[in-house]
Amino acid sequence: MAESIEEIIQNRPTEPGRSPRYWIKTYGCQMNVHDSEKYAGILSEMGYVPADAPEDADVVLVNTCSVRERAEDKLFSELGRLRILKEQRAQGEQSGPTELLVGVTGCIAQQRGDGIVDKQPAVDFVIGTRAIQTLPDVLEDVRKTGQPCVNTADLVDFESNGASRQDAVRAFVTIMEGCNNYCSFCIVPATRGMEVYRPADDIIDEIRGLGLRGFREVTLLGQNVNSWVDPATGMGFPGLLEAIDESIARTEAADGERRIERVRFLTSHPKDLSPRLIEVMASASHVAKHLHLPVQSGSDQILHNMNRHYTATSYLAQVEALRAAVPGVGLSTDLIVGFPGETDADFEATLELVRAVEYDSFYSFEYSPRPDTAAVTQYEDDVPDELKRTRLIELQKTGQYIQAQRNAAWVGKSTEVLVDSVSKRSERDVSGRTSSNHIVNMSGDQALIGHLVDVEITAHAAHSMYGQIVGEPR
Ligand code: SAM
Ligand code: SF4
Ligand code: F3S
Repeated sequence: MAESIEEIIQNRPTEPGRSPRYWIKTYGCQMNVHDSEKYAGILSEMGYVPADAPEDADVVLVNTCSVRERAEDKLFSELGRLRILKEQRAQGEQSGPTELLVGVTGCIAQQRGDGIVDKQPAVDFVIGTRAIQTLPDVLEDVRKTGQPCVNTADLVDFESNGASRQDAVRAFVTIMEGCNNYCSFCIVPATRGMEVYRPADDIIDEIRGLGLRGFREVTLLGQNVNSWVDPATGMGFPGLLEAIDESIARTEAADGERRIERVRFLTSHPKDLSPRLIEVMASASHVAKHLHLPVQSGSDQILHNMNRHYTATSYLAQVEALRAAVPGVGLSTDLIVGFPGETDADFEATLELVRAVEYDSFYSFEYSPRPDTAAVTQYEDDVPDELKRTRLIELQKTGQYIQAQRNAAWVGKSTEVLVDSVSKRSERDVSGRTSSNHIVNMSGDQALIGHLVDVEITAHAAHSMYGQIVGEPR
């Protein structure tokens, strides 16, 4: 008879009385960060505790991203280091537990499957993006057979009640898996599969539970959240936001306590940004006044070749409508430079768009060819690396100048901040975000974490602002 998980853990060769430990290294986007929280939750249920370092762990997970080539290179150098650690353990050269199981999860795991074990035999198991819940079975299999185990099955499971969330104030809530958009440069549809939507009732229940557990902010996660539809009723994403907003208001009215203050969402595709979504962002009081709206390029030709289904002009019209309906809304984006065929004029169009929109912040990347994507099969990666780099630097300089100007305009104003952590710069300061997603640091102690405060902005830096709390926290 197969050993139970508890028996397997008890029978493992390790020091008596010592709880088994896990170490998770996470690469990539928020979806991966949340998936790591789900893995941590499963391991905790199995009796594991977090390790201080891989050297101290019995199980190491590398939760991978394959959005750019460099991410893959990093994985294999990480695995090389883990192989050495495993050999040292086996030869007794390293203190700590005798066993070390190494697993690769996430997007590269889904994409490469068995290929990872073939390339790096130190890997004991590989779990794909939709098979997270199989971790206990996979560990059991590896221990029983002594052979690597690979599971990349399509078993979408949105359950995340047991997730070990890293942040005590802000929680991620997955509302969908996958992406149907096939932007020509992007590997995500291959690594995360086609879109599958979580039912509205499940999402609302999870958010209610998070509120009762003390979380004050949730971020709804999906690669393209505004294409979400309720599988049972066909309700769209704006309807979901309204339903969440109403549910939060009802809970507050029922017990008189303020709980979830803000609902954020990531990521929205411009082609699915409807006037109705803008209306709901304007009217729903718990929906944060921030939109991350990746534009990728300001050149219509490049946008067409990227398969993005909008133009720079239509995008600018959306931004104008959003800003008119939601005063003070924060706006951020993603940009790619050096997509195949990008001329100086195309790049100039991107700079022009960035100057016209005046983003509060953005992420920018050099184009990286990904296997089997349309951009690779249809176009030649013809922008030299050096030119990609020069363009990226110029774009970032332009962005930083605009961001500094926008941050400077906040000085002297008052704003509401949700305090979420101790400041990275000074232990005497705390840090939080405005509804528009601006980072604000202020003098104050840890007791403020989880509270809303009104802050008068007194100074600004490149990526954040500094302020003074006025009035009482709530
Ligand atoms: N779903 C989101 C959207 O609609 O844009 C973004 C998801 S993707 C994981 C995050 C960002 O990575 C993209 O917005 C894009 O800017 C960048 N990215 C994706 N593939 C890339 C590639 N092959 N080379 C460079 N950057 C890439
Ligand atoms: Fe990738 Fe495009 Fe889907 Fe975003 S919308 S995940 S960029 S294919
Ligand atoms: Fe990377 Fe996968 Fe996210 S490729 S960006 S971890 S969806």
